[in-house]
Amino acid sequence: MAIDLIPSAFLARPLKIVVIGAGISGIQFAHDATTSLSGVDLEIYDRNPTLGGTWYENRYPGCTCDVPSHTYQFSWAPNPSWSALYPPASEIHKYLENVADKHNLRRFMTFNTECNLARWDESTSKWEVVLRNVVSNEQKTISADVFVYAVGRLNNYKSPTVPGQDVFRGKQVHTANWPIDLTVKDKRIIVIGNGASAVQCVAALQPVASKIINIARGPTWILPHVFSEDGAVQRQYSTEQKQALQSCPAQYYDFCVTLQKKLAAGFPGLWKGTNSQAKFTSLAQSFMESKIANPDLLNALLPEFEAGCRRFTPGSHYLDALQQPNAVYVQDSINKLTENSLITESGNKYECDIIVYATGFEPYQPRFPVIGSAGRSLTAEWDREGPCESYMAAMVAGFPNFFGEQGNALSLPIISNKCLTVFNPPICPVNGSAIPGIERASDYMTRVLSRLQTDRLRSVAVKEQAQTAFNHWVQSRMPHMVWSGPCNSWYKNANGKVIVPWPGTVLHYYAATEIIRWEDFELDFENPAEKYGSFGNGVTADGFVPNKFPWLHPPTTVSRPEKRAELATRVLAAPSNILFRVMSQVLRMLGGGTHSRERSAKA
Ligand SMILES: Cc1cc2nc3c(=O)[nH]c(=O)nc-3n(C[C@H](O)[C@H](O)[C@H](O)COP(=O)(O)OP(=O)(O)OC[C@H]3O[C@@H](n4cnc5c(N)ncnc54)[C@H](O)[C@@H]3O)c2cc1C
Ligand SMILES: NC(=O)c1ccc[n+]([C@@H]2O[C@H](COP(=O)([O-])OP(=O)(O)OC[C@H]3O[C@@H](n4cnc5c(N)ncnc54)[C@H](OP(=O)(O)O)[C@@H]3O)[C@@H](O)[C@H]2O)c1
Repeated sequence: MAIDLIPSAFLARPLKIVVIGAGISGIQFAHDATTSLSGVDLEIYDRNPTLGGTWYENRYPGCTCDVPSHTYQFSWAPNPSWSALYPPASEIHKYLENVADKHNLRRFMTFNTECNLARWDESTSKWEVVLRNVVSNEQKTISADVFVYAVGRLNNYKSPTVPGQDVFRGKQVHTANWPIDLTVKDKRIIVIGNGASAVQCVAALQPVASKIINIARGPTWILPHVFSEDGAVQRQYSTEQKQALQSCPAQYYDFCVTLQKKLAAGFPGLWKGTNSQAKFTSLAQSFMESKIANPDLLNALLPEFEAGCRRFTPGSHYLDALQQPNAVYVQDSINKLTENSLITESGNKYECDIIVYATGFEPYQPRFPVIGSAGRSLTAEWDREGPCESYMAAMVAGFPNFFGEQGNALSLPIISNKCLTVFNPPICPVNGSAIPGIERASDYMTRVLSRLQTDRLRSVAVKEQAQTAFNHWVQSRMPHMVWSGPCNSWYKNANGKVIVPWPGTVLHYYAATEIIRWEDFELDFENPAEKYGSFGNGVTADGFVPNKFPWLHPPTTVSRPEKRAELATRVLAAPSNILFRVMSQVLRMLGGGTHSRERSAKA
C-alpha cells in the first residue's frame, strides 16, 4: 500500500525554555527564540511589575544612557525617533516596552514573579525552577528543558552596612531603587560614591538641593561627552533631524555607522602600554585640569592609574556641579550615622536630610541558588572569591554536570537538555554599547539550542576543560588590558582578578563566536550508534516546494513590494506556467508541497 511521505529530517523537537529576567537580554532571547527556533514553549519570569530591567529600575535624577541612543537599541528594532543623544532612562524604558509590544513578546512574560531556586533534577533530566509571586507570596515549581539566566549583572544593588543606619531620621536610598515620590528640592543631600550613577545624580541634584555633599573613597576619571559636537552634556534631536532619519533609510544608516565608528575608535585606549592608551590618559587629564579650577578638588579627583582602569564616565556636568557654592566634594570613607548626620572616618560631621548610596552592584553573586548536578553551585563558582568563569559569554560548563548521569541516561525515556545559557556572565563584552554583545550571545545560544533540537541530541554541554582553556586565554590577556591597573573597580573580584570585560573589541567577540567550536562540547546523542539519525528519510520540514530556496537570493535593490508582486504575477501568468501547474499537481500528489503550504499558512 502506498504511504504519504512525511518529512522526518532535522525536525525540531519541542523544548520548554524558562528565562529569568525580562530586561534587554530576556527580550533579545524572546525575539531570537521566536524567530530562529521552532517548537519552543517559552516562559519568561521577572520579579518586577514590568519589563525593562535596568531601565525600569534606575529612575534616579539624571539617569541617562552614556552611549548614543542610536547605538543602544536592538538591530532588529531600529528607532530613528530618539529624542536625544543620551536619552533619559524613561525613554529607553518606553522603547523597550514598545519593542516588546510590536514584536508580540509580552505574551511570554509573567511579572511580579521572583525566581528563588533553579536546580537540575537528575531523576527527570529537567530543570526544576521555584518561583514566588511577590504580591501574593504564592509559590510554584515548574520544570523546563532549558534554563536561561538573564538576571542582569548590574541588577543586584549593594548598599554598605553602616553603624547608625537605624537611628538616622532622614531618608536613605540607593540609586537603583529610587522612590518615585522622594522630594529632593531644598534638601541637604549626601551622595556616596563617584561611579557613573553618582556622577549623573550629583549633576542632576545639585541645582535643586540646598546643599550637596559627595563623599567618595578615591579618585576617578571624568571624561567629556565626546559624542556631542561641542562637548555639550546633552543634545536634543530637532523635529527636522528626526524626520530626516525617519524618512531616509540611507541617511539613517550612515548616521548609525558614523556613531558606531566613533564608539569603536575609543577601544584602542583599553590596551595597556600603547600609544593610544597614553594619549587617552593625557587627553582625559587635560580635560579634568581644564575643567577643575580648585587645586584641592583636582588633587582629590585626578587618578594616578590609567584612564579606563575603572569604567570611565562622561561627566563635565558633574565637574561643574561640584564647583557650585552649594556643593562639597569629600574624599573619605563613611564611619557612622547619627540621627541627622553622617560622620566620616576622619571624624568630620555632615548634617543631611537624604543619603544616596550610589554604591553600585554585586556583579555576579547569584541571588538565588542555581544548582547543577552533583550539587555544583553557581553561587560558589561566581562568588567574590570564586573563579568566576564562563564560556564565550553565553554558557557555563558543568551546569548541569554531565558526569554521573551518563551511565543510566541511555535507558531513560526522557530526553535531557543539559544546557544552562547565561547572559552577561563573567567575561563578556561590556565596553561600548552592551546591546551588540547581548545580541551576539543570544544568537550563539540559539545556534546551540537549534542543534540540540534538530540533531537527535539528548544534551549539549560545554566541556570543563574547554572552559578552563578559554579562561586561560582570557587571563593571559588581562595584564595587557588597562583594567588590570591599580584601581578599585567592579571589573575585579575580591582578590583583584579581572572578571568582567571580554579582553578584546566587540568585533573580536563576534569573530570568536562566528563558529561554534563543537569540539568544546559534550554531545550526547539519543542513540550513539546512529549519529546521523537526524538525517531521517531525506526530506526536511520544508517539504519539496518551499517558498524560499536557500541558494536563491532576492534582488538586493530596494523596490516597492507591490511592484515586485506585480512582476512576479506576470512571470507566473506566462504560458510556460502550465508546466509549473502540472509539476505542482504532481508534487502535491506525492505529498511534497503540502507540508510547506501548511507551514506558510501557520506563519
Ligand atoms: C544606571 C545604569 C545605566 C546603564 N547605562 C548603560 C549604557 O548607557 N550603555 C550600556 O551599554 N549599558 C548600560 N548599562 C548596563 C545595562 O545594565 C545593560 O546595558 C542592559 O540593560 C542589561 O540588560 P539585562 O537584561 O542583561 O539585565 P537587566 O536590565 O538588569 O535585567 C535583568 C532582569 O532580571 C530580573 N531578575 C533578576 N533577578 C531575578 C529573580 N531572582 N527573579 C526574577 N527576575 C529577576 C530583574 O528584575 C530584571 O528585570 C547601565 C546600567 C545601569 C545600572
Ligand atoms: N549610563 C550610564 O551613564 C550609567 C549610569 C550608571 C551606571 N552605569 C553602569 O553601571 C556601572 C556601575 O555604576 P555605579 O556608579 O552604579 O557603581 P560603581 O561604578 O561600582 O561605583 C560605586 C561607587 O560607590 C563606592 N562605594 C562602593 N561601596 C562603598 C562603600 N561601602 N563605602 C563607600 N563607598 C562605596 C565606590 O567606591 P570605590 O571605588 O572606592 O569602591 C564607587 O565610587 C557603571 O560602571 C556602568 O557600567 C552606567
